[in-house]
Amino acid sequence: MAESNSRYTPLIDSARRVLEANRLAGTSDWEGKKYDFVCPSAEVYPFQWLWDSAFHAVCLLHVDPTLAKQEIRCLLQGAQPDGFMPHMLLWDTAGREEQLARCDIVRLDPHFTVTTQPPVLARAVERIYQATKDKDFVREVLPPILAFFDWLAEHRDPDGDGLLAILQPDESGLDASPKFDLPLGMSGRASLVAPELHAAMQRLFDCYEPDRTDQEAMFRLDAFQVEEVLFNCIYGDGLRCLSRLVRDVLEDPAQAAALERRAVNVTRGLMLKCWDQEAGLFWDLWTHDERPVRILTVASIFPLILDDLDPNIARRLLKEHLLDPAEFWTRYPVPTVAVDEPSFDPSFRSQAVFRGPTWINTNWYLYWGLVQQGYKDIASELANRTFELMLRAGQHEFYNPLTGEGLGAANLSWSSLVLDMLWGEGQL
Ligand code: GLC
Repeated sequence: MAESNSRYTPLIDSARRVLEANRLAGTSDWEGKKYDFVCPSAEVYPFQWLWDSAFHAVCLLHVDPTLAKQEIRCLLQGAQPDGFMPHMLLWDTAGREEQLARCDIVRLDPHFTVTTQPPVLARAVERIYQATKDKDFVREVLPPILAFFDWLAEHRDPDGDGLLAILQPDESGLDASPKFDLPLGMSGRASLVAPELHAAMQRLFDCYEPDRTDQEAMFRLDAFQVEEVLFNCIYGDGLRCLSRLVRDVLEDPAQAAALERRAVNVTRGLMLKCWDQEAGLFWDLWTHDERPVRILTVASIFPLILDDLDPNIARRLLKEHLLDPAEFWTRYPVPTVAVDEPSFDPSFRSQAVFRGPTWINTNWYLYWGLVQQGYKDIASELANRTFELMLRAGQHEFYNPLTGEGLGAANLSWSSLVLDMLWGEGQL
């Protein structure tokens, strides 16, 4: 369809405008490195986040593929010699104290955090390769990304079961999800969430303080270790993306096969340990005793993004959960917490994120997961409701899944993923 005549033109224009307006560029006092990337929000989040930038690269494919590559290159400047990739890069902190004070973070260096975030960048690089066929770019960026995936396997899988564990809730990207209330020792009562979470994070930081750079020692403390389903789905999917890139671009079938085996192991681990046959859902595992956290969030259906998920499991996730209006099939799906959870907070009363509202990044992953599983009609329905939501409310950080009200930061960059869903629907 000719995009200039589309009823989606306002959506497309706004998504592209936001990507342009949120661009930050300059020279950092961090070894004089140059930065040029899209930040999540110029007002609220003026730094470079690991999973945000990977989402931005996908969005930028619908603006200019050169910018998509630049986004990844800028991000990879933060890759550490041992493979670690930080959750946040703080390129320019001058005048940013107010924003930094709002973030509960610990830094490993004045310019980056000690924590990590979901490894979406493997999927982003595969998408760039599919769009551009640029093998030189892939050869350039694969080594630090492969090193990051190795770092995760080496340092974040203390029990060797193929599933990674996070050491802080924000490493999942779902920072204040109510499924972390219990592991953090919080009551989670809606009106108290924001200050209670801040206090809980400070307690965790104090506990980790003596061992902050020693991942193994932090796991031994068992202060907060969660084998989180969404993180592991993104990791497993990423391993499979890397396997295909290594096979097709590096032409190394042995390494490709090894990466594919690791991906299979993630799905196997999720099935063996996180799948609840009776409930028809996946649960996070908490503590080294691997106790299931039975709070129903979007993560519980996220294995829908895995290519090798058993079709019978996919069907159950869909029929019994995603399409149930009492859980996830609201007027504007997909809420990040099921409607029938006591902690469901559709209107952001708690002032804490990922406690109910619909986010565009999780919708984007689920959209492509549904397409991949052969449920194109449901994927299209999800896409259409997302388009209606954004046409009505504009571009925001997240949305009330019942009323469609836009909430959080205005003009959040990754909500421009709507461009990729429009493209998937043949509207761009
Ligand atoms: C919030 C989100 C996190 C995201 C960051 C920047 O902290 O919880 O997932 O990376 O904002 O957009």
